[in-house]
Amino acid sequence: MKPTPPQVPGLPLIGNMRDFMGDRSVFFQRSFEKYGPIFSLQIGPKKMAVIAGAEAAETFFTKTDGDLRMDKAYGPLRAMFGEIAFTASPEVYNAQRHILHAPFKGGKMPGYVRVMQVEIQQWLDSLGTSGEIDLVESLAPVVQNVAAHAIMGEDFRKRMGREFWDLYEDLNKGLDMVFPPNWPLPKFRKRDRAKARMHEIIAPIIAERRTNSNQYDDMLQDFVEARYKDDSPVPDEIIIGLITALMFAGHETTVGQAAWTIVELLKHPDYLAKVQAEIDEKTFPGKPIDIGTMAQMQYVAWAVDETTRLHPSADMIMRAAETDIEVGDYRIPKGWMVLLGTEIGHRLPDTFDDAEAYDPLRYAPGREEQKQHKYTITGFGGGAHKCTGMNFANNEMLLITTMLLQQFELELLNPNPTRSYSVGANRPAGAVVRYKRKAQQAIPAEVVAQAVAAGCPHITAMQDAPHTN
Ligand code: HEM
Repeated sequence: MKPTPPQVPGLPLIGNMRDFMGDRSVFFQRSFEKYGPIFSLQIGPKKMAVIAGAEAAETFFTKTDGDLRMDKAYGPLRAMFGEIAFTASPEVYNAQRHILHAPFKGGKMPGYVRVMQVEIQQWLDSLGTSGEIDLVESLAPVVQNVAAHAIMGEDFRKRMGREFWDLYEDLNKGLDMVFPPNWPLPKFRKRDRAKARMHEIIAPIIAERRTNSNQYDDMLQDFVEARYKDDSPVPDEIIIGLITALMFAGHETTVGQAAWTIVELLKHPDYLAKVQAEIDEKTFPGKPIDIGTMAQMQYVAWAVDETTRLHPSADMIMRAAETDIEVGDYRIPKGWMVLLGTEIGHRLPDTFDDAEAYDPLRYAPGREEQKQHKYTITGFGGGAHKCTGMNFANNEMLLITTMLLQQFELELLNPNPTRSYSVGANRPAGAVVRYKRKAQQAIPAEVVAQAVAAGCPHITAMQDAPHTN
């Protein structure tokens, strides 16, 4: 029988808990250097195996929903969302999967991209001519507004957006990996009150949507119109669970990686110059950036990809072992948690050229290091549960980067931000940027005409700006 993975020494009773709750990235990297890409931890009474690398990831994703269970690993999330997506048993998930995926079907992205630009531009307009921002604090409401607008529609975003996100905060704070979710703790009561209030807000909206379905085009409407295989409609409870789960899955993750993308670019002026040249050549302030133009923004896209590699928001992905499983030379016993260390896997020296270096050109034709194996990069997961919002998130991060650099000069005041961990995502701490609005350029007349035709949200402002003929 194969041995269990080598154990990283810890303290009596708590085991490796202190290191695990601290800077996990440093702790995992140190453990990897000493024990290799498979090692084990003791977190209080729980045994965990950390595994990394493409082969291990393949085992991890192909065994998911069989020997490895997602719902059992993410159990504490069930009290927040009910039985949906990552908290659902494999049977429920299979019945639900096409509903979860409905808003991400082809053809919907141009609409989301327009929503993103409206919200990002409102943020940029609010910044004034110069100042300082903490990237994470400043980006968080932008990403929330994009999510509320795309998921629930413009009217909801304007009327209820803020109240909804405050309730969402209470829901989020009720996440606890230690205490049973039905204990009478104040934070659990607050979570349940927030859930009840969300229900009060959303149930009448769903009822209205069920009767006037042809008037809406957003993610909520996709869920309202979806049907199970037996043609039954999706109950309100499940729709509300799906909406809040999308917000959970997509918001802190996107904020973290968007902020890291800007930080890394400002730390690497040579690559930033290529990105800036691309933005200046392919986009114009006030002119909507369509999907076709976005597809040509190669240097920006590689910067976004390099952030996914070096700073994956989901730095570990969890499962629970239902039976003994073998990974490489080791056996992971039934009952253990299994953690796929995405960040370790993304920094393996035998997989990437100078793996610790920031080098977005590693994705360029001729190198394409990400293509060595299907699971070389796992920042958005893999297999059946691979992130449904990956393209949405990548487009949003590309637009945030492009529009910010298009309209502002930036300087990173703290060149070495540390990492902080929020629920399920890592982000730069203390990433303060000084910004100065660029002088307004003359807008070519044909750009104005195109913008009018495309329904640009800032056309009025543009028409007041100087034109060239
Ligand atoms: C940078 C941003 C994001 C990152 C790094 C990220 C990462 C991930 C990862 C690693 C998984 C797989 C989890 C697992 O296997 O245990 C996942 C799943 C998921 N993500 Fe994302 N995500 C991001 C943005 C989004 C957005 C914007 C949305 C929706 C609007 C979204 C919706 C989902 C959903 C619904 C799942 C579950 C899929 C399933 O179980 O079938 N994510 N994400």
